[in-house]
Amino acid sequence: MRLLLLTAAATAATAAYVPGKAFDRFITIWLENQDFDKVDKNSHFADLSKQGILLTEYYGLTHPSQPNYIASVGGDYFGLNQDGFVQIPQNVSTLVDLFDTQDISWKGYFEGLPGPGFMGEGSTAFDGSGWDYVRKHNPFISYDSISMNGTRLGNLQSFKDFESDVEANTLPQYAHMSPDMLNDGHNTTLEYAANWTQSFITPLLANEQFMEKTLVLLTYDESATYPIPNRIGSLLLGGAVPKELQGTNDSTLYTHYSILSTLENNWGLPNLGRYDVGANVFDLVANKTGYVNHAPENIASVNNSLSYAGFLNTDLKLNKPIPAPNLQLIGAGGKGVDETVKSNWGEAAGDMTPYDGSGYLHDGGNGTADPNAPVYKAQAPAAEVTSTPSSTGSAPTATAGKKSRANRMVTLDINWAGVGFGVFAIAAFVF
Ligand SMILES: *[C@@H]1O[C@H](CO)[C@@H](O)[C@H](O)[C@H]1NC(C)=O
Ligand SMILES: *[C@@H]1O[C@H](CO)[C@@H](O)[C@H](O)[C@H]1NC(C)=O
Ligand SMILES: *[C@@H]1O[C@H](CO)[C@@H](O)[C@H](O)[C@H]1NC(C)=O
Ligand SMILES: *[C@@H]1O[C@H](CO)[C@@H](O)[C@H](O)[C@H]1NC(C)=O
Ligand SMILES: *[C@@H]1O[C@H](CO)[C@@H](O)[C@H](O)[C@H]1NC(C)=O
Ligand SMILES: *[C@@H]1O[C@H](CO)[C@@H](O)[C@H](O)[C@H]1NC(C)=O
Ligand SMILES: *[C@@H]1O[C@H](CO)[C@@H](O)[C@H](O)[C@H]1NC(C)=O
Ligand SMILES: *[C@@H]1O[C@H](CO)[C@@H](O)[C@H](O)[C@H]1NC(C)=O
Repeated sequence: MRLLLLTAAATAATAAYVPGKAFDRFITIWLENQDFDKVDKNSHFADLSKQGILLTEYYGLTHPSQPNYIASVGGDYFGLNQDGFVQIPQNVSTLVDLFDTQDISWKGYFEGLPGPGFMGEGSTAFDGSGWDYVRKHNPFISYDSISMNGTRLGNLQSFKDFESDVEANTLPQYAHMSPDMLNDGHNTTLEYAANWTQSFITPLLANEQFMEKTLVLLTYDESATYPIPNRIGSLLLGGAVPKELQGTNDSTLYTHYSILSTLENNWGLPNLGRYDVGANVFDLVANKTGYVNHAPENIASVNNSLSYAGFLNTDLKLNKPIPAPNLQLIGAGGKGVDETVKSNWGEAAGDMTPYDGSGYLHDGGNGTADPNAPVYKAQAPAAEVTSTPSSTGSAPTATAGKKSRANRMVTLDINWAGVGFGVFAIAAFVF
């Protein structure tokens, strides 16, 4: 009987999968606080790289941990500059609202989480042996739109639940995973966490059911050395990585917002109207969908070490209200802003917004000067979408955006210029 039920559940789960353009399942595993250069030299990490794509220009967004996690599901970190308890109001949407438009299943798995409704800042292992779950490494829990909704809250589970989901083949289509404070390297060492990671992932990479059309992003949340640019070690693994790309490097510039844009691109999702729009899509996926990535104009000054102003910033001088999303943006899914976002922020359609869909990188500068601070402008379609009337967005608008983006590339520097020309040529003939 039990077996029958399990089989039925597994079939149902698989049948309900919404097919994506490059993968059907996305799992991201987050480790803590290491610089790219050190991670790159670790033997466990190097072993794993041979089975995947090493992303050599992937940046954390700021310090410390919490804002990076929060940004990866909401498209902004709202000025957050600390790890303590925060709450983000109900009218701020996340990835979960985007998934709901297509009934794409999702979960967060947190090692040591005492239970789905646990709201505390952290907990110690049952045997008292060490730190386990911490709220600051849970990207979902601070959003009221998730924590005040029982159905959504129920999707925040433990690593034990992950194990049973793997066994029963009932994994959701998206999962964020945070190991505990020892296994993620936070309270241990690079070597400890890298060994744990290899031991954890290796059986999964050998599991055909798990690997089937799965893309795994293994990443650090942020670097360790604050004064240098926040470059972290990130790897794409899983069955969605074709054999010929295993052991290769991808030097496109990514940030945690690339997670959002990649998911939007893969499943044709609407967007959040925040920094998700304009973030580069993982090349592996962009190559399949024809999405054109571009180098942010301020690539040379990426630092991402301090947080810019926002409603969660504890520095009173840097405190600002929650920005209105830009309701006119078209994202990597070829769609406009999500309907829930539109209904929550419709009355703010005339408000200034820092989100312009350009992919420009914003940070809090170096403590005295802040040349990359967000700039508030009137809501408008992304600058490159010049040929389209500013009405509601649809796929053709995104196409126009791609073409002129490629156009603009020609004026950009070196490495990217060649790519830009190629892309421009294709765009010119196809569209
Ligand atoms: C609660 O979450 C479910 C599942 O995501 C969603 O369908 C529902 O609309 C949410 N309810 C509210 C009041 O937001
Ligand atoms: C573990 O990390 C926490 C939070 O940063 C810190 O307070 C604690 O002292 C650390 N414990 C050990 C044993 O390093
Ligand atoms: C590596 O990790 C595994 C699984 O957590 C553990 O059993 C093993 O002892 C670790 N090895 C070292 C050298 O730490
Ligand atoms: C990938 O990048 C790493 C780090 O920069 C470098 O050590 C390695 O040689 C590169 N591998 C390939 C195949 O280009
Ligand atoms: C994507 O396509 C470009 C241009 O053809 C190629 O150089 C690159 O290796 C591809 N990357 C991936 C990850 O497939
Ligand atoms: C969003 O919610 C916050 C907190 O409740 C509120 O201050 C703000 O006015 C709301 N924004 C809009 C556009 O409703
Ligand atoms: C990056 O920001 C830090 C402040 O955390 C500052 O010390 C450093 O000089 C900045 N680096 C660059 C290249 O601007
Ligand atoms: C910050 O940047 C400004 C402008 O580039 C520079 O004048 C200043 O010396 C820098 N301060 C620090 C602490 O790096």
